[in-house]
Amino acid sequence: MRELLDDYLNWSSQLRKALAADVLDPVHLDVGSIGGIAFVGMGGSGVVGDVVAKYLEREVALPVATVKSFTLPKYVDSGWLVVAISYSGNTLETLAAVTEAVRRRAKLCTISSGGRLMELSEKLGVPRVYVERGHLPRAALPSMLAAAVLLLNKLIELKVSTERWVEVLKDPEALEVAEDLASFLVGGLPVFVVTEDIYPLGVRAKNEVNENAKLTCKVEVLPEWGHNDVVGWESTPKDLVKIVVLRNGAGGLADFAAEYLRKLDYSLKVLDVGRGSYFETILYGSWVIGLASVLLAGLRSVDPESTKSIEYYKQFVQSYLKFYA
Ligand code: F6R
Repeated sequence: MRELLDDYLNWSSQLRKALAADVLDPVHLDVGSIGGIAFVGMGGSGVVGDVVAKYLEREVALPVATVKSFTLPKYVDSGWLVVAISYSGNTLETLAAVTEAVRRRAKLCTISSGGRLMELSEKLGVPRVYVERGHLPRAALPSMLAAAVLLLNKLIELKVSTERWVEVLKDPEALEVAEDLASFLVGGLPVFVVTEDIYPLGVRAKNEVNENAKLTCKVEVLPEWGHNDVVGWESTPKDLVKIVVLRNGAGGLADFAAEYLRKLDYSLKVLDVGRGSYFETILYGSWVIGLASVLLAGLRSVDPESTKSIEYYKQFVQSYLKFYA
């Protein structure tokens, strides 16, 4: 556990190095001439696509898609930019979708630390960033997020400032906040309630609890929460869940949800992850929740590193998808 905890604790130096990475074989794409941007990737790599897509939705007048499967949506054609992300470079869903992107002559760019995605990218000479090896994919979030932003800053002149990114990962109180969150989460199924503007952080939180703490977990997003999940709380057993409301600075809907759930007597914690800008908030929130999920594994006496069920699933997919294996 110590090793993984240390890897998370060292995120600021991982990120600092990652921000100095090169974009290999860069090209310049005129945003006006692109049909859209699709992010392809699974799990700890796929969530990077969620994070960047949410930013682009608000900043760039282009359709944006996230693909977490073997196939691309029909509308992704040669006019689209496809950003494929796989830390290992060997995830079959990602490789299958990339094969399809190549077949459709989409503009491909990639992020990996090796594997077949790296081999293919070299062979095709597509724009790419190589990220540092030696991490578990989920612990390499800073590297992959930096790579995605460097790529887009270069390819479509996105102009995201990364100046303050490292700073938020140096917060001296983060470990204490994480310890507090981990002890709160012991003894119930974690439920994250999050506002739509930072929904990818909710997805990331769920994945971290799944993979590090070996627990099932649910994530609900506001305002949709108010149209279905809100009713579920009318009679869900109180001792079953531990609810964390992720607040992004000013409260609004998040505070409403917290107050409502508190009135119903649920065990609840509000975690304010707001750090000013979108990417800084996502980085800080992912850091604190990642640390908490590793600490929670310790409190539950499970190994935070091993993900044998993912390996079991991947073996099945290999036989299921012989063509790509
Ligand atoms: C493991 C993890 C997984 C992987 C996923 C896809 O740490 O986070 O969710 O990210 O199985 O593998 P990669 O990231 O290698 O494409």
